[in-house]
Amino acid sequence: MKRHEFLRELHKVSANRNYLEIGVNDGRSLTLSRVPSIAIDPAFKVVSEIRCDVHLVKATSDDFFARENPLQHLKGGRHPVRNLRRGRSPIGYWRRTTLDLSFIDGMHLFEYALRDFMNVEKHADWSSVIVLDDMLPRNIDEAARDRHTGAWTGDVYKVVEILNRYRPDLVTVLVDTQPTGQLVVFGADPENTTLHDKYDDIIAEFKVPDPQKVPEAILERVQAVTPETLVQSPFWRPLVRARNLGVGRSRGWEPLRKALDQISVSS
Ligand SMILES: C[S@@+](CC[C@H](N)C(=O)[O-])C[C@H]1O[C@@H](n2cnc3c(N)ncnc32)[C@H](O)[C@@H]1O
Repeated sequence: MKRHEFLRELHKVSANRNYLEIGVNDGRSLTLSRVPSIAIDPAFKVVSEIRCDVHLVKATSDDFFARENPLQHLKGGRHPVRNLRRGRSPIGYWRRTTLDLSFIDGMHLFEYALRDFMNVEKHADWSSVIVLDDMLPRNIDEAARDRHTGAWTGDVYKVVEILNRYRPDLVTVLVDTQPTGQLVVFGADPENTTLHDKYDDIIAEFKVPDPQKVPEAILERVQAVTPETLVQSPFWRPLVRARNLGVGRSRGWEPLRKALDQISVSS
């Protein structure tokens, strides 16, 4: 499955109520969105028809997230939560907007992608779906920090190892999409400061000159699941229902984590 097809399926199964994209380019991934969206790129050149209500931001992602209330476009930063108890108004109360689906595909250097993840996570929660593109380079040239190939993943593949080491509370699922794979992250926790606290250590260890030593497991895609395995998994319905009901992390995350563990076991 190609990366945009997979993204299209994720829009369907996650039934996302909003969408954030970092790295727009000509709009081919943004054209998949039908919900209120924010899309960020300092040099977008959109040529595709866009079919959603979008705040198209002409800035780097770092500058965007430094703004006050950056998600303002997504209904003033709050979601209504349905109150299903009998006799109550159908809309119970309001809570802060969290990002349902995010796609990180901006600057292809690991420190940028890591900061993008950290910034997105501040506006996410356990039910958010965060996708990072280009996580499975096909060769060492493609993974160079200093671009010298047509197709370029850069060294963003390092984000998988960083998250697995520093954030074992998250579930990371590598997906074998064409051409260069994707990572889907579940279980975001905006209260967790580990990546922020360890940021300087991470950069000192992982920022190394070319050529990059891309692990065989990445090049051979040994830990990647098929896109079909992920999008056809039975956890999506309960995830969407719990999210839309405003179920909190304490009740919502553990069942989802168990279901996600099954995917890596069965693949
Ligand atoms: C691979 S393209 C995005 C492709 C698009 N997501 C798609 O799938 O059709 C990467 C884009 O990231 C943008 N970009 C580069 N640095 C960025 C940054 N710091 N913040 C946000 N976007 C950035 C570039 O201008 C480029 O258009």
